[in-house]
Amino acid sequence: MRILLTTVACERYWSWLARPGVEPITVGQDGGLALSDGTTVDHEDADPEVAWGTSDLYLAGAPLRPFFELVSSCITIRWFQSAGAGFDGPVFARLAGRGVRISNAHANSIPIAEFIMRSVLDHFQRADLWRGAQSENRWSKHDYREVFGSTWLILGLGGIGSAVAERARAFGATTIGCRRRPSASDPTDRTVIPDQLPGVIGLADVVVLALPANPDTARFVDAPFLAAMRPGSILVNVGRGSLVDEAALLTALDRGVPERAVLDVFATEPLPAGHPLWRHPAVVVTPHNAAGGVGRYERQAQLFAENLDRYLSGEALLSDITALVT
Ligand SMILES: NC(=O)c1ccc[n+]([C@@H]2O[C@H](COP(=O)([O-])OP(=O)(O)OC[C@H]3O[C@@H](n4cnc5c(N)ncnc54)[C@H](OP(=O)(O)O)[C@@H]3O)[C@@H](O)[C@H]2O)c1
Repeated sequence: MRILLTTVACERYWSWLARPGVEPITVGQDGGLALSDGTTVDHEDADPEVAWGTSDLYLAGAPLRPFFELVSSCITIRWFQSAGAGFDGPVFARLAGRGVRISNAHANSIPIAEFIMRSVLDHFQRADLWRGAQSENRWSKHDYREVFGSTWLILGLGGIGSAVAERARAFGATTIGCRRRPSASDPTDRTVIPDQLPGVIGLADVVVLALPANPDTARFVDAPFLAAMRPGSILVNVGRGSLVDEAALLTALDRGVPERAVLDVFATEPLPAGHPLWRHPAVVVTPHNAAGGVGRYERQAQLFAENLDRYLSGEALLSDITALVT
């Protein structure tokens, strides 16, 4: 059985994955395929049964396109292990339509939660003032807002939302989660369903978007949502660009509420040059990079190694999302 993966992932993690009867087929930076003895293979003769998408595919110069072209077109693939949590990309529906099993990963929740804490602390503490003063050798003090005692509204309480809620609570914040099916084990002070949002949006100093892209979440944050936000509040979107009506957000920012938008994801990615979000003074743009913590590679490999054993022994996969992909 052949496993398709990048050369980078193979070099780092094949020692975790080697099993009798299993061999790697690697995609190099130039998109070429090779077996472990260095023999090159044409795409038509690759015949992988399993494909493992890893986060290194999304770095500059990586063979993202050839990897996913092969995954999309190769009829021998029976299982695809994704690097991320989201499954809104067209490749997922294509694979599910061919009966391919799909599992996702939540290895990114930790760095994303850390990214959110840093973003909020940076804004609350007005770290820009210190950076500006230092650049001018100026000794200048200012008061700043504390996370302690603030209220956070966290939309989506899965891997990311839960990790954020745990950290915000550790800082002494009050947390309100939002999801369709609240659970007694949600790590929040309280959890509401989407219909109850109008009653809580105005309570939040920090609104975090950690929802998946699906038909129900498109433009979740629209003009009425933004109008209900509290003066001085901050909006952080690490979910998907489709969650936010970007034109309505720009209008709201021009009016001053929310006070800041930290956006890691956009309706169009990469964010086009000249887009008004690049230059709005109340917007922080990051290039879909909130998940960039280096620990994610090992967490993805641990999950894949565990799932590989399960696949080979016919057991249920962890994070099997096949039934959710439409
Ligand atoms: N910026 C990045 O680099 C990055 C990295 C990883 C993931 N992401 C994005 O973040 C999303 C969330 O990731 P995750 O790992 O936290 O996913 P997850 O574990 O699947 O959690 C999704 C959460 O959203 C809730 N939800 C889904 N649809 C909803 C709706 N219509 N209304 C209200 N709540 C809804 C779910 O709860 P219920 O089922 O109870 O509603 C669940 O709590 C991913 O789908 C992906 O798009 C971005």
